[in-house]
Amino acid sequence: MIEVMIDGKTTEVAPGTTILAAAKKLGISIPALCDSEMVEPYGACRVCSVEIDEGRRKRIVTACNYPLNKPAEVSTASDRALRVRRLVLEMMLARWPNVRVVRDLALEAGIDGARFVHPRRNESEHACILCGLCVRLCHEGVWHRILAFEGRGDSRKVTMPYGKQPKECVGCMQCASICPTGAIRFTSDPNHPVDAERIRRAGSELTREVLVLDKSQCRMREAGTAHLVEIMNDYDLLPVMNYKFGAHADTHKIASDKFVKIFSQGVADGCALGCDMACAKAVEGHELRTGPDKGQSVLVDGPEYETASGCGSNIGIFEPWAIVEINYYCDHYGVDTISFGTLMAFVMECFEAGILNEERTGGIDLRFGSVEGTLEVLHQMGRGEGFGLIAGQGIRRMKRIFVERFGADPAFVQDIGMEAKGLEYSEYVTKESLAQQGGYGIALKGPQHDEAWLIFMDMVNKQIPTFEDKAEALHYFPMWRTWFGLNGLCKLLWNDVEPEDNAESGAPAKVPRHVQGYCEFVAGMTGREVTPDDLITQSERVYNFQRIFNLKMGYGRRRHDAIPYRSQGPVTAEEYLSRQDRYDKQLREEIGVDPATMTLDERRAALRRHREGRYQKLLDAVYKRRGWTPDGIPTLAKARALGIDKVEGLVELLAAHGVTE
Ligand code: SF4
Ligand code: SF4
Ligand code: FES
Repeated sequence: MIEVMIDGKTTEVAPGTTILAAAKKLGISIPALCDSEMVEPYGACRVCSVEIDEGRRKRIVTACNYPLNKPAEVSTASDRALRVRRLVLEMMLARWPNVRVVRDLALEAGIDGARFVHPRRNESEHACILCGLCVRLCHEGVWHRILAFEGRGDSRKVTMPYGKQPKECVGCMQCASICPTGAIRFTSDPNHPVDAERIRRAGSELTREVLVLDKSQCRMREAGTAHLVEIMNDYDLLPVMNYKFGAHADTHKIASDKFVKIFSQGVADGCALGCDMACAKAVEGHELRTGPDKGQSVLVDGPEYETASGCGSNIGIFEPWAIVEINYYCDHYGVDTISFGTLMAFVMECFEAGILNEERTGGIDLRFGSVEGTLEVLHQMGRGEGFGLIAGQGIRRMKRIFVERFGADPAFVQDIGMEAKGLEYSEYVTKESLAQQGGYGIALKGPQHDEAWLIFMDMVNKQIPTFEDKAEALHYFPMWRTWFGLNGLCKLLWNDVEPEDNAESGAPAKVPRHVQGYCEFVAGMTGREVTPDDLITQSERVYNFQRIFNLKMGYGRRRHDAIPYRSQGPVTAEEYLSRQDRYDKQLREEIGVDPATMTLDERRAALRRHREGRYQKLLDAVYKRRGWTPDGIPTLAKARALGIDKVEGLVELLAAHGVTE
C-alpha cells in the first residue's frame, strides 16, 4: 500500500490508485469535468489540476489520471493549483460562455467572467467542450469506434468517419447519455417519442450501472448468458442427463471461460436506448465437421446459456466445439436449441432405459454424450427422414409414440418427459424450487426460458422464502414478464444488473428503481404518466384474457397446469441416491418420518406424495391470489374488474364452465 497525504489528511491506497480516487476515499472533493467512472481516465480538461510532492520537486498534475505509486503529499488548494485551475476554467468560459457545467465550475472557483475573448467563441449552451467522454464511451463501453476527434488546437472537434453516421453506429445514444452539455441529442427517432430527453435521462443511468456494476454482478458484457453455466452448476441447478442431476464433474469443460476464448463478437447492439450490456455473442470461423456445410468456416450466433446447457450438459456433452456445431445447425434448420436439447435429453434417457435401441433409431447410438448421434438426429430432422421424423415431433408426441410402438411404460415416460402444455422445458433443474415449478407449470405458454427468473430469486438470491412469498411472486412476476412481451422490451435491463443500493429498496426482488425507469420510458414514449401498478394492470388484462381464450380452445384449466414429476423430485432410485442426504433430511424435517426405518421405494414414494401435494397447494394459493376459481379459471368478478367482460361471448364462455360470479 502507498501512504498519501491530501490536504493534511492521510490514507493508504493500492499502488496505481489515482489522486482523485484517493481524495474521494478521504471525503475530499476535487472538481472534475472529463472524468467518469464509466470510462478510463483521459486527462482532457485539466480542471482537476492539483499540486503533488513525491519527494523531489512539487508539480502540477491532473488528479483524475495521475497514479500514486510512491508516498506523496497532495494539495488540492495550493496557490499554484488554484491558479492553474482558474486559468483553465477562464479559458473554457471564454470559449463556451453559456455552457452550464463550465459556468458552474467557474463560479465555484470564484470566476464570474473571462478576461479575454476566444477567437472561436461559441455562444451555444449546448456547445461541445471537447471533454472526449462520448468518444471514450463509444470505444470502451459500446465497443464501437464511431466517434473520434478530428483536427488540432482550436480546430479540434468530435466527428464521425467522413462526417457521416456510418451503418455501424447502432444508435444506442450512449454518447448522448454521457455528454455533459447536451451537444449530442436526438434529432429524429423513427418511433416519434413524445419526450426523447426523458427517455435519454432514464437510459443514461442504465448505461452507468451496466458499465460500472456488470463486471462484478453478471459478466454479461464479457461472457453473455454463458456465464450462468458454472453458477447453475454450483447451485445444483444445471440440467444434467435429462434433468436427473444439477451438477457434473465435467462442467468446467463447458464453463464460460471456454466460450469467452472463442467469442469473437461483443458489441452493444443498440436494441434499447441506454443499454450497453452487449449480451449478444458469436463465434467466428467455426469449421463445421458434419452436415451439408461440412468443411465450411462459419459464423455462429451464440451459444447462450440455454444452448450450452441444453445441447451440452443435459445430453451429456461437454465439448464446446460440439455445442457450437449443434447451435449452428439448429439455426440452419430453424430449430430452437432449447427444444432440441430437451427433446434429445428425453430420447437419450429412453435409449439408456431400453425403450429405444439402435434398431428403433435406425442404427444411431443415442446414449448420453453421443455427439455423433445427436448431430445425426438433427440432420435427419432437417432432412425430414429416419428417426429425425419421430424426434422432430417433440416430447409430447414422442411419449405417445414410444408407448404405442415400443411398449414404453406410460407413467415412466410421463414422469421423465420434460414438457408442459406441449412445450419442452428450458434449462434449469426445478426440483428444489417450488416457486419455479409453479413458474413453469402455470405459465400460459408453457415452461419457456423467459419464465425462468424465479429460480434465481428462490434458489440463488433467496428472496422468496415463504409459501406466501412464492404465491405472491407467482402473481406479480408472470404479469411483469408479460409486460415486457407486450411492449417489445428486453427484460435483461430490469434485473440482470441491479442498482448498488437495491438490497435496501424495500422490495429488492422487484428492483423498484428499474421498474420506475420503465415508467419513465413509457411516459417519454407516449406522454402518459404511469405508475408501476398501472403496468401490472395492463398485463393482467391481457394475461386473464389469454387464460380465458385458452379455455375456449379446450385448455386453460387446472389439469393443464400439471407438470412432469422429474421437475418436482427424483423419479428414479439413481436420482434419489445421488442426493440422498438432502432427501432424507427433508423426510425427517418436512414430513416427520424416519428414513432409517423405510425402504428406498418407500422413501421415494413419501417424498413424491409430499412434493406433489405441495405443488397442488401452491396452485390453490396462486389461483386465489390471481382471482381465479380452484379450477384455474378467471372469475367473472375478475373479468369485470379488468374490463374484459365486454368481449363478445366471454361471459357466456365462463358460464358454460360454471363460472357465473
Ligand atoms: S449512438 Fe452508440 S454506437 Fe453510435 S456513436 Fe453514439 S455511442 Fe457510438
Ligand atoms: S460531444 Fe459532449 S461528450 Fe462529446 S466531447 Fe463534446 S461535450 Fe464531451
Ligand atoms: S477531470 Fe481530470 S483532466 Fe478532466
